Amino acid sequence: MYNLLITGASQGIGAAIVKHFAQQSAMTIFALARNECKLNELASFCNRASNGSKVIPVAVDLDQADYELLVRRLMVYTATFDVVIHNAGFMVNKPFESIQPDDFNSVFSTNVKVPFFLTQALLPVLKAGAHVLAISSMGGLQGSQKYPGLSVYSSAKGALAVLMESLAAELSDRQISFNALALGSVQTEMLQKAFPGYHAPVEPARMAEFIAWFALNGQKVMNGKILPVASSNP
Ligand SMILES: NC(=O)c1ccc[n+]([C@@H]2O[C@H](COP(=O)([O-])OP(=O)(O)OC[C@H]3O[C@@H](n4cnc5c(N)ncnc54)[C@H](OP(=O)(O)O)[C@@H]3O)[C@@H](O)[C@H]2O)c1
Repeated sequence: MYNLLITGASQGIGAAIVKHFAQQSAMTIFALARNECKLNELASFCNRASNGSKVIPVAVDLDQADYELLVRRLMVYTATFDVVIHNAGFMVNKPFESIQPDDFNSVFSTNVKVPFFLTQALLPVLKAGAHVLAISSMGGLQGSQKYPGLSVYSSAKGALAVLMESLAAELSDRQISFNALALGSVQTEMLQKAFPGYHAPVEPARMAEFIAWFALNGQKVMNGKILPVASSNP
């Protein structure tokens, strides 16, 4: 049985990744987000059509969580994890001069602090050969096209990607791989907030297919890498 944990699973790309994994056999998927109702709906949809896989909804505000306690809560179901996908994200679209410390803290919390401390708490229960995958953004890549209003979001996504590079170096003796995917535009609520009126050429299900494949296979050949996954930006 493969054990996967994915954050930001209640909608958008995260929910699509859960649906994709749930169609495969022998997977236990821990689906984390705040919206309990959406998570329960997703889990019952996936579990009804299950092919031997199981979705376990875990309602939690990751910005406020006690990560050690959260991992102990998950240990009721499994002792180890094969894959962790740090997908939860939060974006603020505001001119640089209007950004308040609360905006900054919220964006850096969900996109950087959560993956940092959740990885720390999960480390003892990650299997040899495990893959920790962060969902970053094209905006977080050095040298990519940048956009007005996204200074705090793009810098947080840059920090997230560099965190994966750093963990790959520091934890190189653990047989765990850390990579980041820098996504281009995908048609979700977050994209609408960043680029109102723009329609992305990629739907969440299509991007989820690639992310799910990479989460299971990328670690076999890559560690500490940041991979752009974009047909357009935005
Ligand atoms: N869409 C794009 O074009 C695009 C491009 C580049 C990168 N990305 C990245 O891809 C990832 C998924 O984005 P998306 O477009 O699918 O966004 P989305 O539709 O806004 O979904 C964000 C997810 O994160 C969860 N989340 C936010 N804050 C949370 C918290 N404090 N605790 C737990 N869960 C939290 C939300 O669930 P709840 O509200 O239920 O908590 C939701 O499930 C994000 O990291 C985003 O930055 C997206």
